[in-house]
Amino acid sequence: MYHLSLQGATSKSDIYIGAGIFSQTAKHVAEKFKPTRIHVVTDSNVAPLYLKQLCAEFPLNITSSVIPAGEEYKNLDTVAGLYADFSEAELTRSDLVIALGGGVVGDITGFAAATYLRGIHVCQIPTTLLAQVDSSVGGKTAVDLPQGKNLVGAFYQPELVMIDTDILTTLPEPIFNDGMAEVIKYGFISNPEIIDLISASDFKQNMERIVYECVQIKRDVVQADERDTGLRMILNFGHTIGHGAEKVGHFTELSHGQAVAIGMVQAARLAVKLGETDLVEQITSICQAHGLPTKLPYPMEDIYTAMLHDKKRAADSINFILVHPMGKANIHPIPLEQLHQLVTAE
Ligand code: GLY
Repeated sequence: MYHLSLQGATSKSDIYIGAGIFSQTAKHVAEKFKPTRIHVVTDSNVAPLYLKQLCAEFPLNITSSVIPAGEEYKNLDTVAGLYADFSEAELTRSDLVIALGGGVVGDITGFAAATYLRGIHVCQIPTTLLAQVDSSVGGKTAVDLPQGKNLVGAFYQPELVMIDTDILTTLPEPIFNDGMAEVIKYGFISNPEIIDLISASDFKQNMERIVYECVQIKRDVVQADERDTGLRMILNFGHTIGHGAEKVGHFTELSHGQAVAIGMVQAARLAVKLGETDLVEQITSICQAHGLPTKLPYPMEDIYTAMLHDKKRAADSINFILVHPMGKANIHPIPLEQLHQLVTAE
């Protein structure tokens, strides 16, 4: 088992990573909190698999909310339902909310916990690879608005994150592969050893170490720039073009990981045009080896238009993350006019 801690501006996050540590949740909760009540939020996919098991870990009576599974429910109506459940459960600021699920459950529960009573303790138990290596760590919480994804949110650190890598063994292949896009990202932006680890044919035997290496990078980056004003942007490698492609596909045709894989290949192509290290072949082959697409599914012109509405863009430029050399990410502001030429030129 690995332990990492992340010191945020207002609280410390203890992150445990290991095979089978789900069954140690109650022990770590007792070490860290003194709750009278615990409320679990999960979704309709995860509840039948793990909710009963989690509740049985605790000597207390646990209450729960089961939200419908899917990004389309990551909205303020669902948050209002959670507030009503928290109130019915009579949660106070010394109580604990546990988010049990993938990225959607983690984001929405984190947001509800950040805002209910101006903030109650939250623990994340991520059940997808993507949530384990990315969204459960670092305190970004959010919900979607009809105008766009993640437009309402808060930075709010989960004080405890329990990452059980045994959970990954039962994930359907496409969901597992989706998370591998983020794993590959960490390899290129910071630690090429991750690419060596996942290139082994039996890499799934080594997920505890692989997840640890990824989370360690995320911890270091978030600790240096919790509020995403500088270094944290490097975590967006592959995400600028990726988000644009997701948007063109109405957020239904491509999964997030698929879009990030396509985005990383395109970002690598852009780096070559700017005279930087050529990693196109390396990124393409490792993504393909993990069942991820690498070809642009839509015209670049459409993706470029979608990118212009990215909430992270500045007035006249977009901060592009480029890898140069392998294992080192740079934030590269590119004026919109130049970007259009670069991405559309063959
Ligand atoms: N998922 C990117 C970040 O947490 O900043």
